[in-house]
Amino acid sequence: MDPSPTIAEIASFAGKEITLKGWLYQKTDKGKLQFLLLRDGTGIMQCVVLENEVPASVYAAARKVTPESSLILRGTVRPDKRAPGGYELAVHGLEVVHLAQEYPIAPKEHGIDFLLDHRHLWIRTPRQMAILRVRAEVIRAAREWLDNNGFVLVDTPILTPAAVEGTTTLFEVKYFEDIAYLTQSGQLYNEADIMAFGKVYCFGPTFRAERSKTRRHLLEFWMVEPEMAFVELEEMMGIEEEFVTHIVRQVLARRGGDLETIGRDPRKLQKIGPHFPRVHYDEAVEMVRKKGEEMAWGDDFGAPQETILSQGFDQPFFVHHYPEKCKAFYMEPDPQRPELSLSADLLAPEGYGEIIGGGQRISDLKILEKRIAEQNLPRQAFEWYLDLRRYGSVPHSGFGLGIERTVAWICGLKHIREAIPFPRTLYRLYP
Ligand code: 4AD
Ligand code: MG
Repeated sequence: MDPSPTIAEIASFAGKEITLKGWLYQKTDKGKLQFLLLRDGTGIMQCVVLENEVPASVYAAARKVTPESSLILRGTVRPDKRAPGGYELAVHGLEVVHLAQEYPIAPKEHGIDFLLDHRHLWIRTPRQMAILRVRAEVIRAAREWLDNNGFVLVDTPILTPAAVEGTTTLFEVKYFEDIAYLTQSGQLYNEADIMAFGKVYCFGPTFRAERSKTRRHLLEFWMVEPEMAFVELEEMMGIEEEFVTHIVRQVLARRGGDLETIGRDPRKLQKIGPHFPRVHYDEAVEMVRKKGEEMAWGDDFGAPQETILSQGFDQPFFVHHYPEKCKAFYMEPDPQRPELSLSADLLAPEGYGEIIGGGQRISDLKILEKRIAEQNLPRQAFEWYLDLRRYGSVPHSGFGLGIERTVAWICGLKHIREAIPFPRTLYRLYP
């Protein structure tokens, strides 16, 4: 049996007979020869079939084969400067595993609705594959940094009894006679877990029934959420800086070719590193107003304000000390100015906006009880969470990094929907 390497491994098989398995990406018919571009998930390889060097049946099959047909080719690997990757396959055997029907996605431009309706096929194209490989690297690097820095992965539930990030964006599901909600964030459980482990993180899908149709909102997105005992706001921002820098550097080191396929200028990313600027909420409001956009003190930044703010930076930057009223119930109030919270968001530059939300959590039982009452949250569902303030409470902080927002920024995408294999948006649950 011939060896069966992937296209990525081909250089070490120069001069050898191999078997190659994959799908036909493109074909050029030159009369007496057929150029088949085969893709296998690891690369694209030029495969040449010459009429007078293969049996007539093999040549006839090569001539008939359609784009996206699945194939097994036999041949000899030889160096060729003109071929993508520097090698080509001189084919002498060809098995058509499946002859594809006429493929709906052509190399021409398609409208976005058409592409999203065919997302299950669209993911086969080089640009989409490159984005999804960067996504895999963002996740790998994020977890690597946390694993190497003393954080324990502790999984949090998807089905939950109560809201974390506001009651207006909950997805309800039937839980026998009861109702449950799909999780908006693993944070509250992380807070229980740090009292056991000190530093933890969770990573998984999160859900928000948001009726927004912006280029940065999904209904289902993935979030990595670290949480740390005995860590206060300032220290947390330093940790976020190291964490995000590691992710960007790993993508540059390991997925440079993919960034090139996507057309992302790596110089924009090479600059990223500590120290990330820190902007007080008061100052951020001033910056937005100076650019001519209206904004009341006390409001959260909407998409237009965030875009304006973030266009002014070429590094990710923190906005910290948001007013208590525009943040979730669990935020620790600022002891100096109780109308503010010890919160910090990290915004990506170039107009991308928020990629991380986080802050210091209320550690005092009385303050937390008051907040839960003020916000009319169902006290009963939060009894366990209040317990954490009864038995060894400590100052603690944590944050959540949205994977798709981060991928969209790193890849320079116009819209978040390309940053996830199968996006869930306001009007889309298919495919
Ligand atoms: O700012 P958020 O809502 O914060 C939390 O959920 C905290 N409980 C996290 C924590 O402290 N452990 O969401 C965190 C991040 C945002 O910065 C953004 O990157 C992403 O999650 N995110 C979304 N991404 C895509 N679509 C949406 N609808 C998103 N909502 C939030
Ligand atoms: Mg947020």
